[in-house]
Amino acid sequence: MLGPVILAASRSDRMRRFVSAAPGTKQVVNRFIAGETVDQVVAVVEDAAAKGLEVTLDVVGEDITTPEQAAAARDAYLELIEHLKGLGLGPKAEMSVKLSMFGQALDGGHELALANVRPVVEAAAEIGTTVTLDAEDHTTLDSMFAIHDELRKDFPQTGCVIQSYLFRTERDAIRLAANGSRVRLVKGAYNEPDTVAFQNKAEIDKAYVRVLRILMEGSGYPMVGSHDPRLISIGQELARRAGRKLDEYEFQMLYGIRSEEHVRLAAEGHRMRVYTAYGTDWYGYFMRRLAEKPANLLFFLRSTITK
Ligand code: FDA
Repeated sequence: MLGPVILAASRSDRMRRFVSAAPGTKQVVNRFIAGETVDQVVAVVEDAAAKGLEVTLDVVGEDITTPEQAAAARDAYLELIEHLKGLGLGPKAEMSVKLSMFGQALDGGHELALANVRPVVEAAAEIGTTVTLDAEDHTTLDSMFAIHDELRKDFPQTGCVIQSYLFRTERDAIRLAANGSRVRLVKGAYNEPDTVAFQNKAEIDKAYVRVLRILMEGSGYPMVGSHDPRLISIGQELARRAGRKLDEYEFQMLYGIRSEEHVRLAAEGHRMRVYTAYGTDWYGYFMRRLAEKPANLLFFLRSTITK
C-alpha cells in the first residue's frame, strides 16, 4: 500500500524540498548513492573491480525541463567516460541512461534525446564499452525502443531495459530476443495503472519468469536485474537449460542492496554487474528505492526523527 504513495510523492516538488532538507536524509541516501562527484564514483568503481564486480554507472537525474539541462546531462556522462578511460576496464564499466534526462519529454523530445544520447554511446564505444537505456514509465517506452533500434544500427551492443510488470513486455522480449539485443529484465519501479500493468507481486514474478525464459532461449544477451533470490536461482536454471555459458548472460543488482550477494555470485563465476548511481539530483532514484521496501521508509523516518 505504501509503495504507490511514495511513488506519487516522488513526483511532488514540495516533497522533494521536504525530503532534501530533512535531517538524516543524507545518511540514508548514502546507502543507495555512490557519491556526488565523478572522483567519488571512480573510487567506488575501482573498489568494485577489485572484488571481481562489474558496474553500470548512472548519473542520477530525470524529468528535466529545458534543453540546456538535457545538454548538461549529456556532458556529465561525457565527463564520466573521460575519467573511465584511465581505468582500462572496457565493458566491465558501462553506462545506464534515462532518456527523460536527455530531453525526451520536451518539445521535439524524441529527436533531442537521440541527439544527446548518441555522443555518449559513441564515447563509450571509443573506450570499449557500451550504454544501456533504462526503462521509465510506460508512456516513454515506444520512443525508448525506437531510439534503441536507431542506436543499434551503428552500435549493436547498446542495451535496453524491459519491465515484467507491463502487459506489453512479453511481446517486446520476443522481438528483442530474436534480434540479438542486450536486454536487462527488471520487475519495474514506476506507478503504473491496471490498464497496462500487473498490480500483484505473484503475477509480476510469474511474468518475470516467462519473459526471462524468452530471453534465455533467444539469441541476445540477457541481463537478470533483480535481488529476488528465487528469480536468481530460476535465472541460473533457465540459462543452464538454454545451454548458455557463464559469460553468455549476467546478473545485475543495485548498489547498496544485498551487497554480500553481489560478491557471492561473482565468486561462483557469474558475471555480476552493480548498477551504481551517483550525482546530486538523487531524489527520484532515492524515492523509488524507498517505495520498493517499506522498511527503508521506516529507517529513513527513524534517522530523520532521531537527528
Ligand atoms: P523484490 O522487490 O521482490 O525484492 C526482492 C528482495 O530484494 C527484497 O525482499 C529485499 O530483500 C531486496 N530489495 C529489493 N529492493 C530493495 C530496496 N529498495 N531496498 C532494500 N532491499 C531491497 N526499474 C525500472 O522500472 N526501470 C529500470 O531501468 C530499472 N533498472 C534497474 C537496474 C537494476 C540493475 C536493478 C536491479 C533494478 C532496476 N530497476 C529498474 C528496479 C526494478 O524494477 C525493481 O524495482 C527492483 O529491482 C526491486 O525488485 P526485485 O527484482 O529486486 O524484487
